[in-house]
Amino acid sequence: LTVSTALRDMMRADETAAILLVELERLGPPARPVTIPTEAQVVELLTLLNAPVEDIPDVVEARPLIADDPEVVWLLERHVNFLDHYTGVVGGVPRFVEIPPQIGPLSRFFYLYVYMCAFPNVRKYHASLGIPDDVSLEILSDLGRNMRVNQKRTGSSGLAAPWWCMLHFRGVIYQFGRIQFERAILGEAMAESINAAGFQANPTDQTLSLHIPDFMGPFPPVAIDASIARAKEFFAKYIPEQPTEFGVCYSWLLDDQMPDHLSADSNIIRFHNRFHLINQWDRNDSGAALFLWGLSTIPAKPREGASTLERAIIAHHASGGHWGGGSGWTRL
Ligand SMILES: CC(C)(COP(=O)(O)OP(=O)(O)OC[C@H]1O[C@@H](n2cnc3c(N)ncnc32)[C@H](O)[C@@H]1OP(=O)(O)O)[C@@H](O)C(=O)NCCC(=O)NCCS
Repeated sequence: LTVSTALRDMMRADETAAILLVELERLGPPARPVTIPTEAQVVELLTLLNAPVEDIPDVVEARPLIADDPEVVWLLERHVNFLDHYTGVVGGVPRFVEIPPQIGPLSRFFYLYVYMCAFPNVRKYHASLGIPDDVSLEILSDLGRNMRVNQKRTGSSGLAAPWWCMLHFRGVIYQFGRIQFERAILGEAMAESINAAGFQANPTDQTLSLHIPDFMGPFPPVAIDASIARAKEFFAKYIPEQPTEFGVCYSWLLDDQMPDHLSADSNIIRFHNRFHLINQWDRNDSGAALFLWGLSTIPAKPREGASTLERAIIAHHASGGHWGGGSGWTRL
């Protein structure tokens, strides 16, 4: 079985992947030529996008797996065209699927090549809106940060959660310092809660979904306020159709048990206090385990020198409790 046949079989067998495959086929070949970067260009581009230097040789080495296999190139071109097609489109876009590790190194590097090939297109999109270069590169360099996240989670080079960067390379997420702002749809539950609080909102309204990138240290309220101020100014100027009155957040940080375990002056609790929580989800421990330690389960004991948060999460879990996450809205 060739790698590309195994990959195609995997996509047909998996429900989400099958939907994506149909869509990739429907959209057809790329409207603009797709150029796979040369080895030198891979190094240059990944350096620009904040990739861990030590991971770059692995990405270069994986190039022939993609470039020399016509079926993989076929798939790559369709993924790039898909991103191009859905650029600037808010909500309701099918997700890329994780390629299982059994497929081999392609599972770690395929999407890096997709995003590198999509780079010129999203840069043109940003430029067409007049978005300054530094703003464009600030968000696109989250690709390199997600290679660091992959190291944290798997101990190897590659890209974690490959569907995540679809937002970046479709031009629907921007970062201003500590916070990223994703253009999103409000939805029924959020709109209902906002209306109940006496404001006006429709489920189909656009909103900004807040994300907190890893590896950037603490997120004190002043940093968040500064991010919000920059975001409001940015959207008013470059994407004026984007409303900025309300922001939403879906996060493990918004588990409503947090205030019972952290002090009121911690940044996480002060972040909490900005939101009207509307929903709590499954307490399966996965969010805390993944975002704190890059693990799938919460460790039994804190390591030497563990922080207050780590100790609190572990203590609650060790005494039979569980952690989930929540969602809420705030006025920006
Ligand atoms: C969200 C985040 C910025 C909060 O950090 P913070 O501003 O330091 O938060 P707090 O002030 O509430 O921290 C309280 C305590 O927990 C510790 N802590 C916070 N985040 C921690 C983390 N990711 N790992 C270990 N300890 C952490 C702090 O060091 C502090 O400990 P101390 O009192 O012993 O010094 C940080 O956890 C982070 O970067 N997380 C990764 C990204 C993430 O989870 N994003 C959300 C995805 S949905």
